[in-house]
Amino acid sequence: MLLENKTALITGAARGIGKAIALKFAAEGCNIAFTDLVINESAEQTIHEIETFGVKVKGYSSNAADFTETHEVVNQIVADFGRIDILVNNAGITKDGLLLRMNESQWDDVINVNLKSAYNFIHAVAPVMIRQRIGSIINMSSVVGVNGNAGQCNYSASKAGLIGLAKSTAKELGSRNIRANCIAPGFIITEMTEKIPTDVRQAWEKTIPLRRGGSVDEVAKVALFLASDLSSYVSGQVIPVCGGMS
Ligand code: NAI
Repeated sequence: MLLENKTALITGAARGIGKAIALKFAAEGCNIAFTDLVINESAEQTIHEIETFGVKVKGYSSNAADFTETHEVVNQIVADFGRIDILVNNAGITKDGLLLRMNESQWDDVINVNLKSAYNFIHAVAPVMIRQRIGSIINMSSVVGVNGNAGQCNYSASKAGLIGLAKSTAKELGSRNIRANCIAPGFIITEMTEKIPTDVRQAWEKTIPLRRGGSVDEVAKVALFLASDLSSYVSGQVIPVCGGMS
């Protein structure tokens, strides 16, 4: 039980990578508070699956891009759970397009949901972690945040921003025993990547040394490493989970 009696807050965890992380943490004895835009039937199903591990779990409807809403939901989570040991900034969207065709709202939406959200949550959660004198923050970046990608300048800029944010947080809060790191997944099979046309997906898979997309569980295993004491001297780092792509 690597996370027994700890509490994790995971954003955008009703499905996909966030859900896999929630399940992986719960299997290690961690209580789970998660957010998503709406707590609908599929989010209720996620809650049900987490409950089977015998931990405390609650889903909160909250827009991670909204500063005020984020502070309100974090206050509520602290009231409900008493502490927050792990923060996973996972909520994210894509609104792809070539730079010269990208309109302002495509740019703003992706920066706000992917990058500003992480600032919102770190800003709200860090005082809680400082009081506890322990915390692990994980930002979900991407290999395209490290390498860039044609057609994704907004997304790759947001994901590069998450790296700068984690590295700066690690430097500012390290003296309070708070670590901050990034995971940079490559091509992971989820609802987000299912939108990509099959021929593009197949071409992409050929460029991956392991010749396949990753699973959400393979990302969750690295999140468990960064959340737990297995990584107690790891901070300010970016760990790619990309089958050798990066
Ligand atoms: P997904 O689309 O399956 O799940 C994202 C979740 O975030 C959804 O439940 C969605 O409702 C929620 N969300 C979206 N906007 C939100 C907001 N404003 N407030 C709260 N929740 C919100 O995506 P997936 O694939 O699970 O991705 C999770 C994270 O991993 C994202 O940050 C994504 O950019 C990143 N990532 C994914 C990769 C992939 O290949 N799937 C590769 C690299 C990074």
